[in-house]
Amino acid sequence: MRYESIGKELFVLNRKRLLKEIPRNSVVVVNANDVMPTNADGTIRFRQNSDLFYLTGVDQEETILVLAPGFPDKKYREVLFIRETNEEIATWEGQKLTKEQAMETTGINTVVWTSEFPRLFNLIMLAGDVEQVYLNTNEHYRATIEVESRDMRFIEWCRRKYPLHRYARLAPIMHRLRSVKSKRELELMQRAVDITEKGFRRVLKFVKPGVKEYEIEAEYMHEFLREGSRGFAYEPIIASGANSCVLHYIRNDQVCRDGDILLLDVGAEYANYNADLTRTIPVNGRFSSRQKEVYNAVLRVQRKAISMLGPGVQYYEYHREVQKIMEAELIKLKLIDKTDLRRQDPSRPLFMKYFMHGTGHMLGLDVHDVGNMYNRMEPGMVWTVEPGIYIREEGLGVRIENNVVITQKGTHDLMKNIPVEVEEIEELMNT
Ligand code: GLY
Ligand code: MN
Ligand code: MN
Repeated sequence: MRYESIGKELFVLNRKRLLKEIPRNSVVVVNANDVMPTNADGTIRFRQNSDLFYLTGVDQEETILVLAPGFPDKKYREVLFIRETNEEIATWEGQKLTKEQAMETTGINTVVWTSEFPRLFNLIMLAGDVEQVYLNTNEHYRATIEVESRDMRFIEWCRRKYPLHRYARLAPIMHRLRSVKSKRELELMQRAVDITEKGFRRVLKFVKPGVKEYEIEAEYMHEFLREGSRGFAYEPIIASGANSCVLHYIRNDQVCRDGDILLLDVGAEYANYNADLTRTIPVNGRFSSRQKEVYNAVLRVQRKAISMLGPGVQYYEYHREVQKIMEAELIKLKLIDKTDLRRQDPSRPLFMKYFMHGTGHMLGLDVHDVGNMYNRMEPGMVWTVEPGIYIREEGLGVRIENNVVITQKGTHDLMKNIPVEVEEIEELMNT
């Protein structure tokens, strides 16, 4: 494993939290993600199902977790199914988890090979007075998914085989649990942030007119890999000049030019947890007065936004407040005019020309993490705060993004050590 041992306590605690949310006569099944194909016999690097990882810490394909808290035989109340390993597999693919290692990782005492699943699952479903079965689905309001996951195939199989059991959605419960991070999870997220910071500091020394965006991408990756990260938390956005106004720019294939701005939305993953950082810097190491003016406007909005966060805040109400603060900054920058404001179409306010995305999202095992955006914020939630101003007519886009934990008293900024002031950035780029 590239990352330090997380310790089974986190996963034992997570399962305990889940079991508190469901009746005793329930069964829960969570499947691993598939190894996704590309072409011929190629595959995409494996990424574990976040819910399965949250409940077990197992980072391996063909894994299934079954929880049956009311099952008469204690042995089968928590069962982990893992892919059988043997000499042949060890020769070609390297070591897979042994049963002992799986027990040590998860804190689950009953570990059996996945090939035994149908028989043992049949016993759990039919011999234990099961009333409802919680099955897992990938639910995210922004996702459009056409491929069928292992969980989806399992749901079809299960409902055909056991048609008269009652079925229920696990997702809303998992979303609630996962949106509030425990101490250990916050440590892992801080580690992802610290690795991201190292990458950013390296890039501050590297960037100069003439470098290519993908060379900057390579600098980040170098730092991330050597720190035990498996790489980028999401497709990095390394956008110079006019590209900084393209919100999801990921081509990263242009030359950075003297006088241009450079928007860097790049974060590392660590132990499946993610950081999501954006900084905007001048290619030549000195902000022009216009760049500085826009940059400081975004920074003021970000700081005010962070100061507004805390327990009880509702995201959409907060976002509307941030939009008002942004509107005032856009007037000061003379990008929108007070008299035009009175005539604006309320369904398409003028500020949206320059600030057209959300102020943030939850962050965790997924970058746009699960959790109900309408619910009020609670201590332990992690939110990004990422206002931006994008002036297409000037080829100037600025976004600043930090990752902030909601605490009892307000917030704690996981990125408080990452340079953000104009003077700090200029100094680091010029020494
Ligand atoms: N990097 C993706 C985002 O900021 O939401
Ligand atoms: Mn980002
Ligand atoms: Mn973000």
